[in-house]
Amino acid sequence: MATIEFSSREKLWSINAGALQYLLKVADDGSLINVHCGGRVGPAETFRLEGHFPFEPGLHLLREEYSTFGGLRFMEPCLKAELPGGIRDCVLKYVGHSITDSRELAVTLGDIGYSLQVELHYRAYPEYNLISRWAIIRNAGQEAVTLEEALSGAVSLPRRSTWRLGYLAGHWAGETRVVEEELKAGKKVLESRRGTTSHQLNPALFLDSGDAVEEDGEVWGCLLAWSGNWKAVAEYASHDQLRLYMGVNDFDFSWHLAPGESFTTPKMVVAYSSEGFGGLSRSLHRFERREVLPKNHADKPRPVIYNTWETLYFNVNEENLKTLAERAAEIGVEIFVVDDGWFRGRNDDRAGLGDWEPDPSKFPRGLGPVIEHVKSLGMKFGIWVEPENVNPNSDLYRRHPDWVYHFPGRPRSEMRNQLVLNLCRSDVREYVFGWLDRLLTENDIGFVKWDMNRNFSEPGWPDAPRERQREIWVRHVLAIYDILDELRRRHPDVVFEGCSGGGGRVDLGAMERYDQFWTSDNTDALDRLYIQEGYTMAYCPKTMGAWVTGVPNFLTNRSLSLEFRFHSAMMGALGVSVNLLELSKQEIEEAKMHIEFYKKVRHIVQDGDLYRLRSPRCGGLAAFQYVTPDKAESLLFLFSLQQGFGERIANVTLRGLDPDFIYELDSSGQTLTGALLMNYGIDPALRGDYKSRIIHFKAKR
Ligand code: DGJ
Repeated sequence: MATIEFSSREKLWSINAGALQYLLKVADDGSLINVHCGGRVGPAETFRLEGHFPFEPGLHLLREEYSTFGGLRFMEPCLKAELPGGIRDCVLKYVGHSITDSRELAVTLGDIGYSLQVELHYRAYPEYNLISRWAIIRNAGQEAVTLEEALSGAVSLPRRSTWRLGYLAGHWAGETRVVEEELKAGKKVLESRRGTTSHQLNPALFLDSGDAVEEDGEVWGCLLAWSGNWKAVAEYASHDQLRLYMGVNDFDFSWHLAPGESFTTPKMVVAYSSEGFGGLSRSLHRFERREVLPKNHADKPRPVIYNTWETLYFNVNEENLKTLAERAAEIGVEIFVVDDGWFRGRNDDRAGLGDWEPDPSKFPRGLGPVIEHVKSLGMKFGIWVEPENVNPNSDLYRRHPDWVYHFPGRPRSEMRNQLVLNLCRSDVREYVFGWLDRLLTENDIGFVKWDMNRNFSEPGWPDAPRERQREIWVRHVLAIYDILDELRRRHPDVVFEGCSGGGGRVDLGAMERYDQFWTSDNTDALDRLYIQEGYTMAYCPKTMGAWVTGVPNFLTNRSLSLEFRFHSAMMGALGVSVNLLELSKQEIEEAKMHIEFYKKVRHIVQDGDLYRLRSPRCGGLAAFQYVTPDKAESLLFLFSLQQGFGERIANVTLRGLDPDFIYELDSSGQTLTGALLMNYGIDPALRGDYKSRIIHFKAKR
């Protein structure tokens, strides 16, 4: 079966993306209709609409593929445009289509009156049961057009009696918590108006008919590859037709489309699984590792990092970094990252941002001696930057007060004492790219943590023509994408970590440029179980930065054992930010042992399949399992939560193993078959609260 089939008789396209089948049809009136988005329903040639959808006149528009504000359409528009002559009506009809390299379909639609064209692109990924889609809106006429809303697309769900929406919500230091609710009527809007992806809501949504569970049932996943203002709308359009829209937020947005210009929306990924939320996550993880992550590092293991933040905060200098680096090397760290505080005038968060030279009082000889020392210890050197922001108390701002977003004569609201640089301006972009490029050219740097610690406010761009003022939300994101793309091109060996006060900018668009993310400023190992669980619903563990930090935790005041902290952090890309100078000899030995073990098994975590066996939300015990694609190795992470006396903790039954393989446990000589591990399970054998354990299973050859 071809990945994309076209039936010219039915004017029907079938995009066959593994378990997902996506059917589009040109209706009699020329509008493009979504016929099906879900599990397989059969080949395009034999598929009949009758009985599947009430194809009455007008009603079919409830499933219009790219809805507009125009004619008798009352649902959320994907496209709202002002055409020449002040015409605020846009009606799209089928014009033509093309299929490229047998996997990509582009359907062109055109307005009935003006030469505004919309190309809807669909790329099928049958290996991962998903499609990636986007729209290109082209002004092929002679006059300017204004786009007021230009979403990436809408998904028309099959008819079901109930729909449940799942999403990842939270706040700073509490991102990606799983939330679920039943949709009843009207619209549920999830969005960011903060200029970044946001800590509060993440553009990864899940839909099911209320009965899907972790490893069973139909689940749809929709993710947006965009790192700025976004919007998702789940709407019961009418007649119980549920639609899910995603794209750049239309709030305070407009785009001036001059003749000949086009606007390309971010990509929206639509995934389907009949194997529950776990099945969906595993497909997404594989897709991300193979198709989304930057190619030059996608296959390489994520390094064990030491980050100075929770040890030294702003108080970094040549001497203390050298001492700390020695300890970091001793425990097996691979990259030593100097976080905030290294540049001129930066002793706290009130000054210095923008003045990106090493602070002479902390580094009288520049960064060179520290970098050399770190390298002599066998590690790479990493550095923290926050290129998009500036402290008003900086030489940069004193020189260029007009370089930030602002409305003339009005207050400039500070957040963490900083303002956002206007990257829509080419001079600001050049400056930012210039110092970053110089930093990486003049110093031997192997890792960059790119932070972004505030939301946008007063989004004025005084020099821009009035009709372009509201483009800043999109232009800013495109600017950071361009800067990152060019930096990566020029410095291909550098690993980039994306951070926005923790997980404020985690999305598939960012994942195309960052090799990993700083998941959350919350480093409490217990809170992290919940944050990391939510994170992995959509994003792969390979990208999930997790540190072991000191106790009591600075946020929760909780003191968990070093073992628990390591085990929790080893479920992603491991880092350490504990004050190594304060650890006892015994603790240093323990840290060393954990890191050594992690290096031996990280391929299972980073490139394996994840099974969330038991959610921490169930209480008692949390269990997560990772399995290599060839099923030869597996890791089981167990965490006891609060357990009452006499509470029975069931055996943990594993998943994804080969039933016929014989697995050895922890190189102990003890062996069990895959069948036994999966059907009988094992006793977690954790006594007491907040204990943890990792079991390593290796198939005997
Ligand atoms: C916020 C980040 O999430 C932290 O890890 C740290 O880098 C600080 N910013 C530094 O200011």
